[in-house]
Amino acid sequence: MAINIQAVTDTRAETPVETAEAGIIVIFGATGDLTKRKLMPALCHMAREGALTEASIILGVDRVPMSDDAFRMAMQEAVCAAKGKAAIETQESRRFANQMHYFAGDLQDPASFTALAERIQELNGGALGNRLYYCATPPALVSDIVKGLAHAGLHQEADGWARIIIEKPFGHDLASAQALSKVVADVFQEHQIYRIDHYLGKETVQNMLFFRFGNALFEPVWNRQHIDYVEITAAETLGVGHRGGYYEQAGALRDMVTNHLMQLLALIAMEPPIAFEADAVRDAKIQVWRSIKPMTAAEVAERTVRGQYADGAMNGETLPAYRREPGIAADSGTETYVAAEFRIDNWRWAGVPFYLRTGKRLARGVTELAVHFKRPPQALLADHSVQIEPNVIALRIHPDEGIDIGFVAKQPGAGLQTANVRMDFSYQQAFKQRIPEAYETLLLDALIGDATLFTRSDGVEAQWRLIDPILEAWRQQSADLSHYPAGSEGPAAADALLARNGHRWRRLNKATEDHLSITTET
Ligand code: BG6
Repeated sequence: MAINIQAVTDTRAETPVETAEAGIIVIFGATGDLTKRKLMPALCHMAREGALTEASIILGVDRVPMSDDAFRMAMQEAVCAAKGKAAIETQESRRFANQMHYFAGDLQDPASFTALAERIQELNGGALGNRLYYCATPPALVSDIVKGLAHAGLHQEADGWARIIIEKPFGHDLASAQALSKVVADVFQEHQIYRIDHYLGKETVQNMLFFRFGNALFEPVWNRQHIDYVEITAAETLGVGHRGGYYEQAGALRDMVTNHLMQLLALIAMEPPIAFEADAVRDAKIQVWRSIKPMTAAEVAERTVRGQYADGAMNGETLPAYRREPGIAADSGTETYVAAEFRIDNWRWAGVPFYLRTGKRLARGVTELAVHFKRPPQALLADHSVQIEPNVIALRIHPDEGIDIGFVAKQPGAGLQTANVRMDFSYQQAFKQRIPEAYETLLLDALIGDATLFTRSDGVEAQWRLIDPILEAWRQQSADLSHYPAGSEGPAAADALLARNGHRWRRLNKATEDHLSITTET
């Protein structure tokens, strides 16, 4: 264990809950995985804590015919599976179940939307009222939904607001993202569109802005004079599960880099926004993506690694290769792992590599950013020390949400022995309160009309401009896929990617201990 940091303000008082204006939340894809695993548990919790009023209505829309009661039962089961029995046994949860309704319709048939408009009015006392549409469907259906809503006049804001949440991936390359943007922009105005990236709803991701811009201590050293390199990791132990159909088309680059990792990169590298408000924050992030030059084919070959998990084992359990998972082609060339080096060509970051890696079936589930500082200019303590490690600030997003800083200290006693130690701030220990789930935060933000944590269309396009050349070069070099054993640290080629610059990844297996030879008990 490391030196602990306690919160010095009184953190026992929980943040007051904000309550959203009443409205109808229409979920397209209401029987799907996302609705069951994430949206319903989030909405149920919001209802329990008072963020969602009793007057709000959840209207699930999907193809299969089902009664309101059957839908309620299925959603109760889903919340129970995700959050345990206690989550559905409170009075508020039972009340919440009665706020749910169901509408069966074909999202590719405009007539369904006319009937949907009637159902909304019927539930809402004759008016359309406030409406939040959530596209929890496969991406291919989003344009049908948008056109259907327009057909039935459901996009209009005459008697209440209308907003639409669109899940990632937004398109599958730049051209398709632009085409989808056009379809959506023909119907909705930008203030009505919420392109969701659930990473931005994670409390610890938001904390990156507070860490950087709420403290005077770090910003002066947050640049190429002091920082050697930055690592961004999103490693998962899970495999592709039952999402083979989607994942075969997407792969790790589209699934994780063109959104989650690019967002983390922008937050760690951006200039201070002129205000903490939606457009200012989004402008600052876009500047980062625009400062990165799209890679040439030669750079893609040198600076990216794509991998796929092979047979392996974890905790004594044997794990099948990706190609043997359900719904996956036996000769699939889809990547389940990506590592890449990006360079931000601006005044602050010129020459500093930003390494991104993400993968499925890796040794440990870890999401973190590690900022590696340069060595001190003189090796004054070199003769007396263990190998002195340069300072590292690690922002841990998952697990053990928090921040730790590695630095050098003198070992007690005679002589001049040095040790590498760590100061550790843990969210759980400091605040002793529940950390909200990302979807709770983002659903509430959409309901109150705050788009700060959502992506603008120019942001989506700026990201695809960086990803398209990689996809294209990979298509050309189709054989170049490194296999790694399931449950391992990833392909050896990813280590070589950093080693060529004299750098190395923090080990997933003991991510927080890496670089630190001694830590101090509190
Ligand atoms: C999703 C990806 O967006 O993020 C999944 O589609 C991935 O493949 C998931 O597993 C990871 O999210 P989290 O919050 O578990 O880190």
